[in-house]
Amino acid sequence: MTTTEGVEVVVSEFQPLPWTSDLSVSVRVIDDEHKVLLSVYNDLVGSIEHRDPKSVADKVVKELYGYTKYHFGHEEEMMSKLGYPELDEHRRQHAGFVNRIAEIQKHVDGGQANLASLAEFVQKWIVGHIMVTDKKLGAFLKDKLPDGDFEFDAPAMGVVP
Ligand SMILES: [Fe+2]
Ligand SMILES: [Fe+2]
Repeated sequence: MTTTEGVEVVVSEFQPLPWTSDLSVSVRVIDDEHKVLLSVYNDLVGSIEHRDPKSVADKVVKELYGYTKYHFGHEEEMMSKLGYPELDEHRRQHAGFVNRIAEIQKHVDGGQANLASLAEFVQKWIVGHIMVTDKKLGAFLKDKLPDGDFEFDAPAMGVVP
């Protein structure tokens, strides 16, 4: 962030986030889905100055809602089938994100579409959750899934963008 005569210029805060090994949770099937989430965020950053913020916010929020339900469903299926002891807390975090996204959708429907604050929320939540909560899960799963693969019950809930 830079300051010009007391006015904060925030646009430079939002840079695309390339996938790096720092974000890996050491389980391929989860990493692959996180890459999709990052690409939704990166598309949002690329559209942050779009002249029709409502249409961008509408598209991004719908994609996030659908894809996170799909992805969270997969993580929760793995946790449940493989006996992860912190399933309840992890699931609570997922539900909190989905509820927040549903609230944001209401604001967008009501004509309030602030792409910078949406980007800030998505970046903080996704990166924060991957770096802490999903990494903890990955550490538990990686010995159980040495090839990084898992057969999900099909179909998972939600939609793929
Ligand atoms: Fe998660
Ligand atoms: Fe995740």
